[in-house]
Amino acid sequence: MSDINQFSITQAVKDSFETEPGSRFETLLHGVLDHLHDATRELNITHEEWMGVLNFLYDCGQISTPERHEFILLSDVLGFSALVDMINTRGGATEGSNLGPFYLDNAPEKKLGAHLADDRDGVTVLVHGTVTDSLHKPMPGAIIDTWQADASGTYPIQEQAQGQDKMDLRGKFTADDQGRYWYTTVLPKPYTVPYDGPVGRLLKAGNRHAWRAAHLHYIVRAEGMQDITTEVFFENSEYIDNDAVFGVRKSLIAKIEPAKKADELGLETEKKPDAMFKFDFVLAPESKKR
Ligand code: BEZ
Ligand code: FE
Repeated sequence: MSDINQFSITQAVKDSFETEPGSRFETLLHGVLDHLHDATRELNITHEEWMGVLNFLYDCGQISTPERHEFILLSDVLGFSALVDMINTRGGATEGSNLGPFYLDNAPEKKLGAHLADDRDGVTVLVHGTVTDSLHKPMPGAIIDTWQADASGTYPIQEQAQGQDKMDLRGKFTADDQGRYWYTTVLPKPYTVPYDGPVGRLLKAGNRHAWRAAHLHYIVRAEGMQDITTEVFFENSEYIDNDAVFGVRKSLIAKIEPAKKADELGLETEKKPDAMFKFDFVLAPESKKR
């Protein structure tokens, strides 16, 4: 019998699995075991500390429901979601950012120029831009799927009990023959990620706030291209430098301008905007490797 000690145990655990040599599963399993065992040794983790970790994970499971996935939130506030977005952004394409918990894949199709916010209060903003590949070739027919909070920082889906329609403030636009898209909506406000559970306790323990910088969510798709999931933020807005889930990237910050120039664009809109900004999406081909 071999003598397992605190150093040889890592290899012993790896050897206990019969994995296909060189497979992705084996690479991930061995990598995670190596890093977690190394951290456990280096930090001299005590029984109490380890039990604290396990109980924290247990609490995350207890509070999770189909609508609330506390482990995703944990991944978000610890920067793992952002890191995975960053390493999976294709060269030349728009940077990826958080999907968040409020996406619905069956948002209504809307006409270019439509107003997304009906008669909601708030600053009406014209959002416009293009969808192209990285060589600026327009992508006519690209789908721009968007969803957002309102001018008080609430997603309608969170207020269904108060009579809100969960499909409000979301829609799918199809880019025109020049790859352009445009619509009006209300500017969203910042809001907090849920902090009444174990992740909230973690934030409090580390003196962190739960606020997200105001943003619009997008998934953009086009035939033969890699989808992008991202968010657009606003220059000089609150929490832009300390978003609770690390979603902000410099390239995703739009500059809001007065609507004065909107007429010069010649874009027909259902509602007259008070302000406007441009954001261009760039997609990479499906097969292109990073
Ligand atoms: C959101 O952007 O909607 C969101 C992202 C992460 C956690 C909670 C909400
Ligand atoms: Fe959001």
